[in-house]
Amino acid sequence: MIHLEPSTMSDTITCPHCGRAVAPQARFCGDCGVDLALAAVTAELALIGLDDVPVSAPIAPEVLVPRMGETMIERGLLQPADLDRALEHQAACAASGAPILLGQALLELGLVDRVSLDQVITLQILKLQTALSTANRELEQRVREHSRDLRQALDRLAELNHLKSNFIANVSHELRTPLTHIKGYLDVFDEEVLGPLTPSQKDALQVMQRAELRLETLINDLIEFSVAARGDMSMNWRVVCLDPLVLKAVERLEGKAQLGNVTINVSLTHPSPLVRADEEKIGWVILQLLDNAIKFTPCGGQVDVSLACQAGQAKLAFRDSGIGIPIERVSEIFEPFHQLDSSSSRHYGGTGLGLALVRRIVEAHGAQIQVASEPGRGSVFEIIIPVINA
Ligand SMILES: Nc1ncnc2c1ncn2[C@@H]1O[C@H](COP(=O)(O)OP(=O)(O)OP(=O)(O)O)[C@@H](O)[C@H]1O
Ligand SMILES: [Mg+2]
Repeated sequence: MIHLEPSTMSDTITCPHCGRAVAPQARFCGDCGVDLALAAVTAELALIGLDDVPVSAPIAPEVLVPRMGETMIERGLLQPADLDRALEHQAACAASGAPILLGQALLELGLVDRVSLDQVITLQILKLQTALSTANRELEQRVREHSRDLRQALDRLAELNHLKSNFIANVSHELRTPLTHIKGYLDVFDEEVLGPLTPSQKDALQVMQRAELRLETLINDLIEFSVAARGDMSMNWRVVCLDPLVLKAVERLEGKAQLGNVTINVSLTHPSPLVRADEEKIGWVILQLLDNAIKFTPCGGQVDVSLACQAGQAKLAFRDSGIGIPIERVSEIFEPFHQLDSSSSRHYGGTGLGLALVRRIVEAHGAQIQVASEPGRGSVFEIIIPVINA
């Protein structure tokens, strides 16, 4: 909108700072090095007397940039009555189907000259630019502040997580020592070293041994979890055949399934896939997924365990006809200590650690775990792991 005479658009222009000639397309003056764009804006501001652009004013540009007619009145270039005339002329043109801008209406009526009009438009553009750059600066500042707050919150969270893992590890180790004594004496009683036991004493002893075993398992899981959470999980890599691990888990949990009247069906593939894995850990994962499938399947339901091999991947699936999981809650089940039914009257035992640890172990194997589920119809948990005898 700045009106340039044809002569000023020729081969050279003058540096507004040192007065030397510079090429029109140059960004900086070759002699004094001044930023020509910046110098031009400063010169323009000086020319039109714009030294009062508010820098810390409210950031909405429309607040800062007044309407053109009002600006002209403010600067004494136009009388209010003339503005009304121009607006009427503009409305009449619009009504006759040939709309024009206000500036054009003012020119047509001879109420302002071209130079004044260009000055006012330039002023508006510069004000708008200033408002925009102020808004940008404020926005950048706010983004910087929010990023810093977020980083601090994340650091704090990581620190708390670390403290939690340390706490769990310490407490678990402390619990393990007295439990070892309890277990030792239970064994001593069981072997009747301290004298013969009556049948009812033997029954009571069995209850205590089962409880001790549950405590021991829980403490071991807690220790494993805290180790994994700190990223210290050590892997004992071997070539592992998955079939025996599946069969072993089924054998271990058959009693539990029978108690709940849940049928387990197993389908294996031949040849059995071999994977690079930590045998103990992957066996534990299989046990956890089968345990969940049985636990969350009501009486009379069934659990299908299948092992298939496709495209260099072994797919180990645990399908149950159990209570299912609402789709929007699937991500929660991998959170440590998280159980979907956390009400005090929950029917299912456990601590909610199983799947949190399962996920870490699966990830450490470069494998994936997938879940599909429908409330009331059942769930499928699948582990996909690369095979080495594909
Ligand atoms: N097959 C499943 N069907 C329905 N819900 C499931 C199934 N497996 C897991 N869940 C849900 O996910 C939650 C977390 O499972 P996770 O194995 O981590 O804990 P848990 O079985 O409750 O306790 P733990 O495994 O520590 O003994 C369960 O409490 C349950 O709400
Ligand atoms: Mg579990």
